[in-house]
Amino acid sequence: MPVYSCLVDDGVSQAISELNDLRRRFLDYFVERGHLAYPSASVKSDDPSLMFTSAGMVQFKPYFLGATPKFAGYDGVWHRVTTAQKCLRINDIENVGRTLRHHSFFEMLGNFSFGDYFKREASTWAWEFATSQKLLGLDPDRLYVTVYQDDDEAFQIWRDVVGVPESRISRWDEDENFWPANAVTKGPNGPCGPCSEIFYDRGPEYGTADEDGPNTGSGDRYVEFWNLVFTQFDRQDGGVLEPLPQKNIDTGLGFERLAALMMGQPDAYGTELFQPTIRKVSQLSGQPYQGTSSLSHRVIADHVRAATFAITDGVLPANDGAGYVVKMLIRRAARHAYLLGLKDAVLHDLVDEVGIAMGGAYPEVLDGAERVKGVIETEEEQFRRTLESGIERVGNILSDLRGEELPGEVAFDLWQTYGFPLDLTQELAAERGMSVDRAGYEAAREAARDASRGETGEKRLFTKQSDAFGAIAARVGETRFLGYEASQAQTEVVGIVREGAEVDVLREGDSGTVVLAQTPFYAEGGGQIGDAGKLAWDGGGALVSDTRRSSQGLFLHEVKVVRGRLAPGTQVTASVDPARDQTRKHHTATHLLHAALRTVLGTHVTQAGSLVAPDRLRFDFTHSHALSADEATAVEELVNRWIQADLEVAWRVVPLAEAREAGAMMLFGEKYGSQVRMVSVGDERPVSIELCGGTHVDRTGTIGAFIITSEEAVSAGVRRIEARVGAAAIDYLRELRARERRLAGLLGVNPAQLEERVTRLANELKDSQREVNRLRDRLAAALTSAAPAAEVREAGGYSYATFALEGLDAHALRTAADRQLEATGADVVVVGSGPLIVVKTSPGARERGADAGRLVRGIATRVGGGGGGKADMAQAGLKDAARLSEALAGVPEVLGQAGG
Ligand code: SER
Repeated sequence: MPVYSCLVDDGVSQAISELNDLRRRFLDYFVERGHLAYPSASVKSDDPSLMFTSAGMVQFKPYFLGATPKFAGYDGVWHRVTTAQKCLRINDIENVGRTLRHHSFFEMLGNFSFGDYFKREASTWAWEFATSQKLLGLDPDRLYVTVYQDDDEAFQIWRDVVGVPESRISRWDEDENFWPANAVTKGPNGPCGPCSEIFYDRGPEYGTADEDGPNTGSGDRYVEFWNLVFTQFDRQDGGVLEPLPQKNIDTGLGFERLAALMMGQPDAYGTELFQPTIRKVSQLSGQPYQGTSSLSHRVIADHVRAATFAITDGVLPANDGAGYVVKMLIRRAARHAYLLGLKDAVLHDLVDEVGIAMGGAYPEVLDGAERVKGVIETEEEQFRRTLESGIERVGNILSDLRGEELPGEVAFDLWQTYGFPLDLTQELAAERGMSVDRAGYEAAREAARDASRGETGEKRLFTKQSDAFGAIAARVGETRFLGYEASQAQTEVVGIVREGAEVDVLREGDSGTVVLAQTPFYAEGGGQIGDAGKLAWDGGGALVSDTRRSSQGLFLHEVKVVRGRLAPGTQVTASVDPARDQTRKHHTATHLLHAALRTVLGTHVTQAGSLVAPDRLRFDFTHSHALSADEATAVEELVNRWIQADLEVAWRVVPLAEAREAGAMMLFGEKYGSQVRMVSVGDERPVSIELCGGTHVDRTGTIGAFIITSEEAVSAGVRRIEARVGAAAIDYLRELRARERRLAGLLGVNPAQLEERVTRLANELKDSQREVNRLRDRLAAALTSAAPAAEVREAGGYSYATFALEGLDAHALRTAADRQLEATGADVVVVGSGPLIVVKTSPGARERGADAGRLVRGIATRVGGGGGGKADMAQAGLKDAARLSEALAGVPEVLGQAGG
């Protein structure tokens, strides 16, 4: 833990090193028994049947089937291997945090035999490791084992070889004691076998009345911590268990459960695997962790840890597959942060805490921390925007509601269609003295579940679009987009969805989602925000607040009717808000910026994200360090030169191959169809060609001017530029000028004299500061010499003096401590003033082992404070200045305990 040891106090880092030692002890034990200690595989799975690595054996599948176990970077053939494996399982994601047992990311310690030793060795070693005083030292009288119902061999080994009393061995069916569970009847095909599990009895206080041995009752009394799989079959279609040519062993010891047992905690959240994060969450939110009831703390700690590992191993948030899981992990955690009252993005601030807990065993989480923080922050901010628009949507629904209860289906639709979570809906309802029909919500959820039966758990969980849109799409097909040429169009309403269901009218004051036959409204995508505007018809009007695209290709207009009635079949004039003009300018400017960055900085620059809005653009790109002032100016100038050249902007739909040939910029990770829209700027020799679905200006001259307003890091290797163009650029300049005037006003000069005045003030300030320091030192000296000489006493083999003075800052206090050390000739001097304490040691005392850093920590922590420093000088702060004399009175005891 070299990198972070400075951040954690001794008690914590000791607990963490005990955890590191626990992993090490396991691996060492098996290394001593001829195993190769092999690194964990990535949590990102290479196995197409798995989203993530879900067990230690995953990376070894071929060796169970007979492949020769040779490992790159290791000489020889290894039939025995041991690992600590990073795993991620998501089938129970909704239970994470609710129960104290579930984790999405977890570690599995394992020992494996590929055609080498079998049940006898695996069982005796597991038992020895669990019970030996030098190893885990678990009380054998509290251990129970289970075996597969037909596995007499395992039963006998436990009873006769290991010596477990028959009363503590039980037999179970394939649901409990076969791995994978139920593989015999349900599959999957592949290596599998009966298993034996070892349980630890934590005593009746953890159980339920009906709990009587492993796999009974509903309590947490019997903790299953180690699964020994006897991998001896290759399952074939129809449940045929083909014996494998070789017998294998695959064991998995759940590290979180083990950690809880060994650290005397009821669950892993109480251990230092999670506590650094949980403490930080408490600190940021001001809400202490209160065990079972603190669901949000746990969800955040678990999910941030899982997301950190997944991102570190290369799974980035995305809209499908493993990336979608990472996105949901971040969003669930963000939602819980929000519930705790944290109104700004905070999750990225917790990545260092994951590093504190896990970095010793998995240094990659320390190395990748900056990148992970950037990814998490971007995702969390996006989610917070969804949340905000959702809050408005829910607000509208609630204001329209007659009655005091929001129907359950509506609440469910908010979740299913917009990803807006129930607990927040409930909260918003409660603020208005209303409630949500929970039973109705559950019923709607069950109905949706039935409707999508057959899909996997994750897909079900993450279904986004409600069936209503599916039905409209089936009827009318994809929406035709007219917005490249027009910002206004005559069109017809072809479908309206309100509260998750199709309706045949929106009345005055109603909000809903409207689908038009064709539309000039741009739907959010490619970084460009969705258009706002209005719909007008004979006798009525509605405001459009946002436009999105459904997965079926419908453009969804979020509207509120302000006058009249809107029904399917109504002919409307759809007009995009004129602000879209500014959006177009920002979009074309984004392409120019991209091209300019590649020209000025190099072609390693690629787009990593973008936001195109009416008032600004934001562009994230790969580049390793900050732009120098010259580089930023060069980029800005180049873009402005292209703007002034008034280049033509053109677009064509072309086959993908042609676009590639033309050298169009394609975004990494983006999926393109066979026909793509290619936007180019400049006709002869285009300065930019990009694949893009967004709206653009016709000629660059329209953009007017381009001004970079900020440049900063998003994460290691990714920078972010914000810029404004056109009217937004002028607004920005106006703001700058107003600020300049205000500053000049504050200093009583005219703007032209600002620079000179500020330089003079800065110099004067420096001089004054020097003078203040000098006076402080003199004050400290005067106070010290005026004060009665501190009495020198003895403790722990050192002479020491303590001393309290009024009104000194840290600098003066250090000077005072120096003088005291000199004046008294003591080994150790402790001086305090207000909440501050300074400790100094003499060279002689240090030779005998005195350490000011350790002493000051000892003195301060006893009375609620903390600090640190070096062996010769250290300082601390107390939370409560009134406890200073108590702190000083404790010095002899600390010296005595420290023994120096
Ligand atoms: N593969 C088994 C499990 O996941 C043992 O490692 O439980």
